[in-house]
Amino acid sequence: MNRDGNKTSIWQASVNNYVPKNPWNKSQVYDVLIVGGGITGLTTALVLQEAGKKCILAEAHNLGFGTSGGTTAHLNTILDTPYYQVIKDFSEKDATHLAMGAREGIDLVEGLVTKYNIDCDFEYKSAFLFAETDEEVNELENIKDGNEQVHVLSEWSETIPVPVPFKRALKVDFQAQLHASKYLAGLAKIFEDAGGVILQHCLVSKMTEEENGVTADTCLGIIKAGAAVYATHLPPGINIFSFRCAPYRSYAMAFTLKSGAYPEALAYDLKDPYHYYRTHTVDGQSYVIAGGGDHKTGHNDNTEHSFTELEAYMRRHFEIDEISYKWSSQYYEPADGLPYIGLMPGHERMYTATGYSGNGFTLGSLAAKIICSHITGNQTPYDELFDPSRIKMVAGFANFVKENADVISQFISKRLSHAKLTSLAGLAPGEATVAEWEGQKVALYKDDNGHLYALDPVCKHAKCIVGWNTAEKTWDCPCHGARYAPNGDLLTGPAQSGLTQIKWEDIEGD
Ligand code: FES
Repeated sequence: MNRDGNKTSIWQASVNNYVPKNPWNKSQVYDVLIVGGGITGLTTALVLQEAGKKCILAEAHNLGFGTSGGTTAHLNTILDTPYYQVIKDFSEKDATHLAMGAREGIDLVEGLVTKYNIDCDFEYKSAFLFAETDEEVNELENIKDGNEQVHVLSEWSETIPVPVPFKRALKVDFQAQLHASKYLAGLAKIFEDAGGVILQHCLVSKMTEEENGVTADTCLGIIKAGAAVYATHLPPGINIFSFRCAPYRSYAMAFTLKSGAYPEALAYDLKDPYHYYRTHTVDGQSYVIAGGGDHKTGHNDNTEHSFTELEAYMRRHFEIDEISYKWSSQYYEPADGLPYIGLMPGHERMYTATGYSGNGFTLGSLAAKIICSHITGNQTPYDELFDPSRIKMVAGFANFVKENADVISQFISKRLSHAKLTSLAGLAPGEATVAEWEGQKVALYKDDNGHLYALDPVCKHAKCIVGWNTAEKTWDCPCHGARYAPNGDLLTGPAQSGLTQIKWEDIEGD
């Protein structure tokens, strides 16, 4: 299965790209168009189809290409934003609803796995949060208090499933894990069996909302539907989500162990960023999957170093036999700690779900239920709490756009000589940089064969300057997380087109 980077996740290796079977009837007006083929898009498509809606799903690449193919697939009721914090920032009632929602998300997954017998290694597991310092012990006590207030049962534990020294630990039962790409493939098949249509390599470039529905312009043609759901992290374009969600990257590695003593439960420390652990067995071989090293996208000059640090950390605590997989993926932190799920502000037929923090499989599943309820005319206890309209437009937006608005036109109007460009690059094969030439920036990458790619580094979303991701060999935007291939092709929104290539014919005229 293909993904949006250079590294291979453990889930990619065991599942091929999905091959849809149902034809697209171009003259049909569908009830709902779902954009995005990850956990949110596929689950939403399936539950809507089950509810009697005729659905079509459009994915710009292949199913699982983005974060869902690079998750570590923990399903939790203990979330990245602890309940005591939600009680403080919102209310006890809201925090209780959040806890109910997380449980509903897991229940939905378990229900689908059971009902359709999806072969995806779903298992309930206990989870352990552990503190290594006095400060973290205080944090853990706050977490336990918050859990009690929202009726998430947790108890102190004398042991944890990983060989890391700790001062105090909390155990929470009935968390879960699964094989991400097997689950996605299972959802896709069931959706198609129920009559749904999946279009891959179908980039939606424009969505127009009309009185009775939506019209989507895609690279495969026009799709008409009664409503649309953007399940793409941020919806495309510049909108309020651009300012309320920050993109982060997280690093994961799968190791085999010399001892064979693989952790039997999920575990999380309380560092910032925290480490997370679990075990998965694929084709008879067990792996401990560990993650951490999170940082804001585009804010790390050497992403390969993040893997080195994670490996060193793991070697301090485990007897590593082999590093079998390493990969990274992207998630979005919401401004107030809660996801945005529901109608997009200013729209009546366009929905979105984003801002899951590191809890994408749980909250993405819950989002499917909430959006399905909206579209079928029902209410949920979560409508107000997760309402995307709770966001307000922030000041400074106009300046943010204007600052970079004229960079591209200035740059493209200039012509670089090949010799100058090559000399300013000074790159070894495999290296990349954003270089300055006569006050303008150019993104340069030299591939392993010595071919030099030159791109305008101005992101096509809101004109920030992209940075090179050494590990994944991608250009990543630090503002809202758009990502591009070395040749400029678009990998991840919210941008809707690739970086502008600086063509040699433009250059050689000098
Ligand atoms: Fe928004 Fe690049 S993703 S400016």
